[in-house]
Amino acid sequence: MSRATAHAHPNIALVKYWGKRDLALNLPAVPSLSLTLARFETETTVTWGTTEDRFLFNGEAADPTTAAKIAQFLSLVDPARPPCNVDTANNFPSAAGLASSSSGFAALALAAVAASGQEWSKEQLSVLARRGSGSACRSLWGGFVEWKLGKRADGADSCGTPIAPSQWDVRMVVGVVSSKKKPTPSSAGMESTRLTSPYFPAWVETAAADVELGRKAVLDRDLAALGEVMESSTLKMHATMWTGRPTLNYWLPGTLGCLDAVQALRKAGIGAWATMDAGPNVKVLCLPEDSERVAIALAPWVERTDILAPGGDATVEQH
Ligand code: DP6
Repeated sequence: MSRATAHAHPNIALVKYWGKRDLALNLPAVPSLSLTLARFETETTVTWGTTEDRFLFNGEAADPTTAAKIAQFLSLVDPARPPCNVDTANNFPSAAGLASSSSGFAALALAAVAASGQEWSKEQLSVLARRGSGSACRSLWGGFVEWKLGKRADGADSCGTPIAPSQWDVRMVVGVVSSKKKPTPSSAGMESTRLTSPYFPAWVETAAADVELGRKAVLDRDLAALGEVMESSTLKMHATMWTGRPTLNYWLPGTLGCLDAVQALRKAGIGAWATMDAGPNVKVLCLPEDSERVAIALAPWVERTDILAPGGDATVEQH
């Protein structure tokens, strides 16, 4: 029996991932770029070689769907694996408006491989995390991370890669418009969009150029350029969702309220740009000195706000 504990932070996409080119390997239709966030994290302990599979999520037995997904994921680490225990918990409430699957599968990949006694490269771990949830492949690294599309059929080159220099001190202000569980999970939503939106081909065609712009903006530390491409990628992604059949809309009235507030801030000379994922919550990119003002501007539309700085790499220890 051996045991390892990993910690990983969630990330927010600045240039978005939406749509898969291979469902079984979870390969993306587009490249993407993200920012890993500090303070919030998933802690996961894997015990390798127990008497039966037992998976705990925030101290309670995982529901059957999640348990089946974890069991399958562990078998990717070793198809002949012994029974394992997984104990995973988030230090952030699910009401915090952040998708926890990115930090969740990054931590699970790191802890499972270490507990199994194997040594994998960070790229291999990122490929593994991607199989659990696409966005998780970006949470192995801190700061700004690109997820390469990759060319290989087996997906071995579709993984995260950090963009240096990552130590650019920006802030993401997370505004929780609603903490209710989203009605359509991202995997199902992106597949129906891919199959039915007439705008999906345009979304795919323009993604690589958006990642180029985003990477350049990070390297130049040009917040306006990064904010503009982030908002544009966000709105294109949501346009593909709205124009699928059936239509898919994750926004609520408060989402538009936040977007108006962000535009008003920009008119007043504050550098603030908004992004939304598969849910109604709004995340605003800005400089540290403007973050309090951004949080105040979002307040009328949201249940809570969190001001988050860039976070570090995922870590693991054996014990
Ligand atoms: C809108 O990574 O949750 O947050 O690969 O199906 O698990 P699966 O999807 P997931 O999707 C994230 C979609 C997004 C944009 C992004 O994070 O890039």
